Amino acid sequence: MGAASDALHRLVRDVPDYPEPGIVFKDITPLLSDPAGFAAVVDGLAAAGRDGEGRVVVDKVVGMEARGFIVGAPVALALGVGFVPVRKAGKLPGPTHAVSYALEYGEATLEVHCDAVAPGERVLLVDDVLATGGTVAATRELIAACGGETVGVAVLMELSFLPGRETAGDVPVTALAVV
Ligand code: PRP
Repeated sequence: MGAASDALHRLVRDVPDYPEPGIVFKDITPLLSDPAGFAAVVDGLAAAGRDGEGRVVVDKVVGMEARGFIVGAPVALALGVGFVPVRKAGKLPGPTHAVSYALEYGEATLEVHCDAVAPGERVLLVDDVLATGGTVAATRELIAACGGETVGVAVLMELSFLPGRETAGDVPVTALAVV
């Protein structure tokens, strides 16, 4: 088992019935507090932004609020590219594009600053969990509204019992673990 996969299996905690009955929440806080484990998963995610020769092939890393910020920002630094936060409604101060979407539980609106991704830029989306895929699909719409192109999605965990990949659409998805 690779270091990233090993870290995920050891250090992500299942919390039953959170935040609602029937939902098993994937708590990554033990992983974040383990520097070797955190470094291993950041390396694993960053590989999705490189080609077979190790060259960086993306211009921006986009992380989705909130856990996508925690894992996405170090991936951007590892790749030497800028980081863009996609935030829930009303949090960004400048002009934004906005998309509403359905979550595994509830509904939300995501926003991005209009000038955060330049036309033609290649973007890697980074998040902790791919569940229904609604967050990724909405974020792809936001990147497209900026004129950018989502060329990859990298997540720590993909939930095997939900159709996240299908909903994410026609884009390569890297999951360090399928749970
Ligand atoms: C969780 C998770 C992903 C998203 C995945 O975030 O961190 O961003 O849901 O679900 P989906 O594939 O069904 O869209 P959440 O909305 O709970 O936000 P938080 O990180 O701010 O708690």
